[in-house]
Amino acid sequence: MRNPFSLTFGKEPVNVISRDRMLDEITDGFTAENPEFQVCMITGVRGSGKTVLMTEISNRIKAEKGWIVTELNPERDMLHALAAELSNRKELLQIFKDAKINLSVLGVGVEIDSEPPITDVVVALDRMLQHLTKKEKKILLSLDEAVSNQYVREFSSQFQIFLRKNYNVFLLMTGLYENIYELQNEKTLTFLYRAPKFEMTPLNDTLVAKQYKKVFDISDQEAAEMAELVKGYSYAYQVLGYLCYKKQCSYKMVLEEFDAYLREYVYEKIWSELSGNDREAVMAMALSKDSKVESIRKTMDISSEKFSVYRKRLLKKGIARSMQYGYLSFTLPRFREFVLEAD
Ligand SMILES: Nc1ncnc2c1ncn2[C@@H]1O[C@H](COP(=O)(O)OP(=O)(O)OP(=O)(O)O)[C@@H](O)[C@H]1O
Ligand SMILES: [Mg+2]
Repeated sequence: MRNPFSLTFGKEPVNVISRDRMLDEITDGFTAENPEFQVCMITGVRGSGKTVLMTEISNRIKAEKGWIVTELNPERDMLHALAAELSNRKELLQIFKDAKINLSVLGVGVEIDSEPPITDVVVALDRMLQHLTKKEKKILLSLDEAVSNQYVREFSSQFQIFLRKNYNVFLLMTGLYENIYELQNEKTLTFLYRAPKFEMTPLNDTLVAKQYKKVFDISDQEAAEMAELVKGYSYAYQVLGYLCYKKQCSYKMVLEEFDAYLREYVYEKIWSELSGNDREAVMAMALSKDSKVESIRKTMDISSEKFSVYRKRLLKKGIARSMQYGYLSFTLPRFREFVLEAD
């Protein structure tokens, strides 16, 4: 049998732990008769499962009547890509034909002899969305790994105008906290600032243990230990399962390889993306034996005011968590060991 665990990023794994709450909250928020929001963002550390969650939401909404769901690439001209995508959909062709929208000049499909072609992509999109809205279609655009680049800024700024015109357009973004933060702080994109943000939470320990027990012939105790080891971190859940399945042995025999996967495929990347200051804070956290904010701060030798800025950022990035007032620990499994070795 094939390994039921997967190490591929961005692909929905066979062995998925349900995130029903977030899934429901976001899906319902978009699809309610009076939508709670038209834009929402998912943030979380690398490997926490943002892409998988976004795919699940998209698939769910796709199945609803009247919805059109399409994914946009933040590294391409998104307005043009959207116009092209919509005009290539067979089921929408008639709507655009009836509305006499000639898009041939844009090289994106629909051609109507009697009408002069539209030469500006924004004008074209505007008319397409206007008519789709009139026909009670709803359009969800998903944007994975949003960054604050020219394409995304231009698109978001135009999207804001479509919202103002009351078109049935919806936008779901995922991204690392720092990228989403940068984007929403663009002066012209303050509407993003107000959009709800969902932070990825750890997978539920009980569900993780249950799932391991289903696949492996292990005791409740061992399944609970495995769940404790992965700390609800999606990628770690897959890696540990993958290794145990491949080697058909206890998790205790694969710990070294488990560390190696985490290090090579995510932690080195996370570490390289931290600023010098953040690294210093992370290092002080790793050195602290008791996870007390007080002792971490003392190691860094900075004021509590200054430390609270670091603290907040590490919490937002999903690297640290505060399980108890005055304490700060790592969310990621074995990250402490990684940091101590990285130095
Ligand atoms: N709900 C889940 N249950 C089990 N495994 C999951 C779940 N969500 C994601 N994973 C696994 O975790 C890994 C990372 O998932 P994903 O690619 O969605 O993360 P990401 O947050 O988009 O990462 P990145 O920021 O690098 O794009 C994959 O191996 C995936 O199979
Ligand atoms: Mg991703």
